Amino acid sequence: MLPGVRGRGVGATLVHRWFDTLRELGVPGCHLETLGENHNAIAFFESMGFHPPRRTNVRARPAVTRGDHHTVQLMVQSFGTPPVRGG
Ligand SMILES: CC(C)(COP(=O)(O)OP(=O)(O)OC[C@H]1O[C@@H](n2cnc3c(N)ncnc32)[C@H](O)[C@@H]1OP(=O)(O)O)[C@@H](O)C(=O)NCCC(=O)NCCS
Repeated sequence: MLPGVRGRGVGATLVHRWFDTLRELGVPGCHLETLGENHNAIAFFESMGFHPPRRTNVRARPAVTRGDHHTVQLMVQSFGTPPVRGG
């Protein structure tokens, strides 16, 4: 999101619409990758119901992008139970 529209619920609206589309298609879940150092993004995705995978030891892996060392965090979402909605 552009800085001027962050924190207004737009990201949550987009994610929830995506969840609705996936559920309509019968998709049982989804996953994403974000930077482990991006604590704001991780907090946002956690509020959307994503969490690190519980069944593997792969929580975060090191990566290098244009010379910068960071970690890549895998987060998963199952639609077995309704996703968390904000508010
Ligand atoms: C991360 C991002 C997509 C979230 O979108 P957004 O429109 O700002 O988020 P929303 O306003 O819909 O927030 C929904 C919920 O997420 C959580 N949340 C959002 N930003 C948060 C932050 N910085 N810290 C903690 N929680 C946060 C809150 O629970 C919030 O609910 P609340 O407003 O009722 O408290 C957006 O801030 C962004 O583009 N950030 C910069 C780029 C980036 O990091 N993108 C992700 C790359 S993987």
